[in-house]
Amino acid sequence: MGEFRPLVFSGVQPTGNLHLGNYLGAIRKFVALQDGNDCIYCVVDMHALTAQLVHEDMPGQIRSIAAAFLAAGIDPVKHIVFNQSAVPQHAELAWIFNCVARIGWMNRMTQFKDKAGKDRENASLGLYAYPSLMAADILVYRATHVPVGDDQKQHLELARDIAMKFNMDFADHIRRTGTGIDITVGEEPVHAYFPMVEPLIEGPAPRVMSLRDGTKKMSKSDASDLSRINLMDDEDAIAKKIRKAKTDPEGLPGDIAGLAGRPEADNLVGIYAALADRTKPEILSEFGGQQFSVFKPALIELAIATLAPVTGEMRRLMADPGHIDAVLRDGSARARERAEKTMKEVRDIIGFLQ
Ligand code: AMP
Ligand code: TRP
Repeated sequence: MGEFRPLVFSGVQPTGNLHLGNYLGAIRKFVALQDGNDCIYCVVDMHALTAQLVHEDMPGQIRSIAAAFLAAGIDPVKHIVFNQSAVPQHAELAWIFNCVARIGWMNRMTQFKDKAGKDRENASLGLYAYPSLMAADILVYRATHVPVGDDQKQHLELARDIAMKFNMDFADHIRRTGTGIDITVGEEPVHAYFPMVEPLIEGPAPRVMSLRDGTKKMSKSDASDLSRINLMDDEDAIAKKIRKAKTDPEGLPGDIAGLAGRPEADNLVGIYAALADRTKPEILSEFGGQQFSVFKPALIELAIATLAPVTGEMRRLMADPGHIDAVLRDGSARARERAEKTMKEVRDIIGFLQ
């Protein structure tokens, strides 16, 4: 039994401003995974067309996500930072996956239901096929580990289903072409071309919630700017938003059990823990019994100390678009080479002449 070479892949859409949820749920994990792993981080610009076709400043949006990656500390020389559309093999594999995935699978995707809303007939075909392109992003590199926020879990399960069906349906072809490796999935031995991707979701803030409503996800699309901390917010804005964050009248409990039924308190403790790189029990053992009037100023101080250097570096990078473009071009060229190697084998497995 073999194993796929570990490879980390993740993507962020260039739509709107990045917020604390993106930073703690995704980007901060990307940075931590760099040590000891081969990583590919992608600005998924083709995904950005699924909900809204025309974007006023697409180049600026793409550069700002790339700048956030670099400002947070991702090394684009040791690893790969690029934009999706520059590697057309993603779209090529996505087409094949559109033919692997079943309509019944797509119909279960909760994000499609949420984003399409009531007027489903008017949603783009791309929005419906979105998770198939996402599977292709990952599997075109045969990547094995994917750091994401909790909201992407279902999409990664779909990526596993697609990989499994491809492996099974093309088993004979994979054997004939000598491109697969023997792995075990659960107890089951499988001759696989594509690995079963592992989601990396854990941590104290896998789902950062709105500062106005602890039952709603912090999101780019929330009408209230007070609901989120944007990565480009200045110190005053961060302080104001945390000060105004919704809480309940009680103080902080001494243990996790005491957070049950208190979504706003739970959220702020999770944010503190993630920013401090500590666990929620550790934070509660320090602040248990204290009022929010003590906890909030501590959180403000920590949030500013952690985010201000990233924001400052992002601003500095955004002032030199030529540098960002050069980083993306270099990353795209290296990504393309790897993706083309996979696609040559995939075309061969399917039986396309090339
Ligand atoms: P998106 O901006 O939708 O492309 O999301 C980029 C990354 O941020 C994905 O890994 C998401 O799962 C993650 N993410 C987005 N919102 C949140 C949130 N409120 N809490 C935690 N992670 C999030
Ligand atoms: N769907 C992800 C999001 O909205 C972005 C994404 C696209 C992605 N392709 C990916 C994440 C591949 C991880 C791996 O957050």
